[in-house]
Amino acid sequence: MKIIRTILELKSFVSAAKTDGKTVGLVPTMGALHNGHLSLVERARKENDIVVVSVFVNPTQFNNKEDLRTYPRTEEHDCMLLEKIGCDVAFIPSVEEVYPEPDTRVFDLGKVAEVMEGKHRPGHFNGVAQIVSKLFAMVEPDRAYFGEKDFQQIAVIRRMVELEGFKLQIVACPIVREADGLALSSRNVRLSEEQRGIAPNIAKTLKGSLEYAKSHTVAETIGFVTDKINSYPQMEVEYYEIVNGHDMQPVTDWNDSDYVVGCVTVYCGDVRLIDNIAYKK
Ligand code: PAF
Repeated sequence: MKIIRTILELKSFVSAAKTDGKTVGLVPTMGALHNGHLSLVERARKENDIVVVSVFVNPTQFNNKEDLRTYPRTEEHDCMLLEKIGCDVAFIPSVEEVYPEPDTRVFDLGKVAEVMEGKHRPGHFNGVAQIVSKLFAMVEPDRAYFGEKDFQQIAVIRRMVELEGFKLQIVACPIVREADGLALSSRNVRLSEEQRGIAPNIAKTLKGSLEYAKSHTVAETIGFVTDKINSYPQMEVEYYEIVNGHDMQPVTDWNDSDYVVGCVTVYCGDVRLIDNIAYKK
């Protein structure tokens, strides 16, 4: 596996591969890799000749300085995992390499970015659009892989792709969970032992709500999930929204869409966790 730190070297590697007729899959990450990321790399490995994984903690998508400061950084371990799984290129640029000058672009991401994470983390999705558009321009991948844990992010990236006219396939991959149901996240390492024991109740409650939803309204189901999660110590729901999975807009009736997804954000102590579940797909 090649470790590349400059855009020039990345572009020259990719362009040589393309000249040889090879397809390129990109897995953008912020490092602190876990099995969720590795499932994306495995999928990319199956579907492309060359797999590029970017490892870059993107400052422009953090609306909270403390979150950026404490975001786990485990480069050596990440490289070891990527090498083992058969990644071809780990692209690990510095902040100065990616942003030689401030990125002032403001994307018209529209309504998919106005709700949920967009409302609670102002500027977050614009920062995601900035970095992902830069990576797409650098790598020009045939396919790019994202995990469905960040369900809304995928919709935002699709919108950015439409705006910028990138020609690639966005591949959405299923959430990977621990044996007890907790969705894998780089933030899980920040949970205390006690919090780690409680956190699986997020997924358990979401799963339990599938049965509840069969005989209750959308509003009742939102109340059920919120109250149940809040009943656990140290857990506080920031929002639970049940949305149309195509455009992220809240639904009020189960028949409002053929694709209905519940998206939750929970503070477990000071660790912010997200998860989601499809009621209809
Ligand atoms: O999902 C993430 O880890 C990040 O938002 C991404 C897509 C790598 C952009 O920094």
